[in-house]
Amino acid sequence: MSGVSYTQALDRAIAIALHLEATGDLHQSLDVAFSRSPHPQARAAATGLAYTLAARWGVVDRILEEVQGEKLSASTSLLRAALRVGATEVLWSQKHPVEVSKALGKALKGKTSHRILPRIRWVLKKVANFSWPRPRNFLEHAFWTYFFPADLAQKLKDLYGESGALHFMAFVNHEKPPTTIRANRARTTPDKLGQKLAEKGIPTRPSPLVEDFLILETTHPVMRLEEFQQGLFTIQDSASGLAVARLLEKGQPQAILDACAAPGRKTGYLRELAPKTTLVAGDTKASRLLKAKKELGRLGHQAHLIVMDATAPPFKRESFTHILVDAPCSGSGTLWSHPERRWFRKGEDLETLSQTQKAILFALFPLLKHGGRLLYATCSLWREESEEVIQALLETHPQARLLSQERLAPHTHGTTGFYLAIIERGRGTESRK
Ligand SMILES: C[S@@+](CC[C@H](N)C(=O)[O-])C[C@H]1O[C@@H](n2cnc3c(N)ncnc32)[C@H](O)[C@@H]1O
Repeated sequence: MSGVSYTQALDRAIAIALHLEATGDLHQSLDVAFSRSPHPQARAAATGLAYTLAARWGVVDRILEEVQGEKLSASTSLLRAALRVGATEVLWSQKHPVEVSKALGKALKGKTSHRILPRIRWVLKKVANFSWPRPRNFLEHAFWTYFFPADLAQKLKDLYGESGALHFMAFVNHEKPPTTIRANRARTTPDKLGQKLAEKGIPTRPSPLVEDFLILETTHPVMRLEEFQQGLFTIQDSASGLAVARLLEKGQPQAILDACAAPGRKTGYLRELAPKTTLVAGDTKASRLLKAKKELGRLGHQAHLIVMDATAPPFKRESFTHILVDAPCSGSGTLWSHPERRWFRKGEDLETLSQTQKAILFALFPLLKHGGRLLYATCSLWREESEEVIQALLETHPQARLLSQERLAPHTHGTTGFYLAIIERGRGTESRK
């Protein structure tokens, strides 16, 4: 890469690091940083650097604090961002600290006093000589080898056992999450779509999980393809598609409720699998429902979209044969594609989330007809948001019968982490709640 594009890459990486620190959202930070379109090479380099930094954020900060002997909060936000970017380059791109400091100097020109440059050079030289601690136990291993904070590593260990947790961490570090697309049955078939994409040099393979899904063999900005504009496909994780397929695999759907529907990815698939059935898609957020409307429009689908609170749904009892509850959750299942979520987990109060999930589920269950099916899904790994929520329903609603539950995860299924449970409404005694 030329010197100019390396400087541009560092400039954009600093912008991403600044935004990420403020928002905790890597994808949004990338969008903001690339709204001014840099050189493609610089963009690719800054993106790679940002992902590396986002996954290692807490480790980078620990090293920077150790070598400086002071908290990072003592530095300005711009200096913190530049040091994080520089340390990532020195530690994981094996770049020389002087070379990185010079390029950072150019990237920061006009944005801060040139007096900070000797400081950056001094810190990065120390980072290059940092002696990595030898991990003595699981949590130290998780931190220094796999870049996972202790509380998260402990939760993974509780869930998968020690070797399962290490497998999870190694997997998400080394494997790239695939892009998966769903062929729109109303307009094409997976075979025809796969063929069209292959002709454009975009090889795909069928998803082993759901029949309408294709996995891209290489990275490609597929949203720019005319086939996307024509609504022949949508981008969706296959575990998310499996939730819909599982819900509809039994029973004759007559009326379907998608209760937490926005931005409508599952609504679209519900429509494709049950083209003639009444389909109501609700969400509390009107702005997110607008996105669902746009997405459904692109695919040529229709559904009744309503702003509603699923804890107090505006429907009579026994209105639906099928209900999809894609509950709001911590999103811990998305750690693979959102590496920053290891370190930024604002709003992940599992107690509150679990109460909301139970309130939603308890309010929706009575809307199910006898013999009807409800699918409860979260993109969470944690039991508090999955098995424990379902257990609470079973304990309080004698008519609720658990037909199946399954967990999907990156290291076991190659997908986002998902929990899926299918509940049937039997004919037993009335619900106690
Ligand atoms: C996991 S997302 C749904 C994703 C969507 N099903 C899809 O596949 O595109 C959860 C959604 O639940 C909505 N939500 C949160 N609390 C809700 C409530 N009380 N009632 C209805 N929707 C709610 C959020 O606004 C969010 O859009």
